[in-house]
Amino acid sequence: MLKIINLSSRYFNQTKYIFSQFNLTIPIHKKVALLGQNGSGKTTLLLLIDGLLKAENGSIYWEQELLKYHPKNIKQWRKRIGLTFQNPEQQLVAGTVAEDISFGLCNLQLSKQEIKERLEQVLKDFELELLANEPLHHLSLGQKRRVALAGVMALNPELLLLDEPTTYLDQHQRNNFLQELERIYEQGTTILIATHDLNFAYQWADWFIFIHEGKVILEGEANYVFNQRQILEQIKIQLPILWEIWHTLPPDLKQQNNQQLPRNIEELKKIICRIGKQTVID
Ligand SMILES: Nc1ncnc2c1ncn2[C@@H]1O[C@H](COP(=O)(O)OP(=O)(O)O)[C@@H](O)[C@H]1O
Ligand SMILES: [Mg+2]
Repeated sequence: MLKIINLSSRYFNQTKYIFSQFNLTIPIHKKVALLGQNGSGKTTLLLLIDGLLKAENGSIYWEQELLKYHPKNIKQWRKRIGLTFQNPEQQLVAGTVAEDISFGLCNLQLSKQEIKERLEQVLKDFELELLANEPLHHLSLGQKRRVALAGVMALNPELLLLDEPTTYLDQHQRNNFLQELERIYEQGTTILIATHDLNFAYQWADWFIFIHEGKVILEGEANYVFNQRQILEQIKIQLPILWEIWHTLPPDLKQQNNQQLPRNIEELKKIICRIGKQTVID
């Protein structure tokens, strides 16, 4: 699991702490959404977990390994923990798609054969084969995001951190992205996504963490966290649309569905169709 103990952090030359005595535990192999208002520290927390920002105090463990900031340790740490930035342009370094993905692999000191095999595999997994030799500046932001994710996944991380990954995606790309996430999750990767996109988080995650003023203010499964209206109002978080619709349905219908929350439009449609049929029969 990921364990953060008494973490304190502030930006260089700043007096204000973003996190002070911050604690968090994330079980292994979960789909975790990190939520909170703009400026609540989601991005900062991901940078701290990846070791890109150095904590002033406290400890971060991944599967019993303590994050140490010595360059050798950091290199090892980043083999296990991958991060994609909100803006993929900050992440991509080399000329073409294939060169960029290979660049990260070269840093792992793998054999040429293994680099070739891993490159081919991720190009296939992320449907980038036709773009392999395309210069990065010819790509759309959505495509660049896919290349950045492919580059990180080529390194086989155990924990994947994604910062606002749905920002540049249209509906179609978003559905593809959900499938990509499912595949990554099924490979055994734990995924932590920082997002302000509550509808996406609701559809995807199985564990929700809300941070506010440098503290975890609420965490748990959907059924629990979205029932805490007072806390969510306090931190000005609106409820996911599907959750709201579900709660306007009559109680006996929810009962018939075994109180099973619809987590995407398809599931909600099935429930509504059932209501329609019952109305006709009645
Ligand atoms: N490079 C920086 N230097 C100083 N303050 C920063 C820097 N980056 C972020 N902050 C501040 O840290 C706080 C948390 O920001 P951030 O982690 O980006 O929040 P979120 O991702 O939840 O929107 C904000 O108050 C923000 O202004
Ligand atoms: Mg952010």
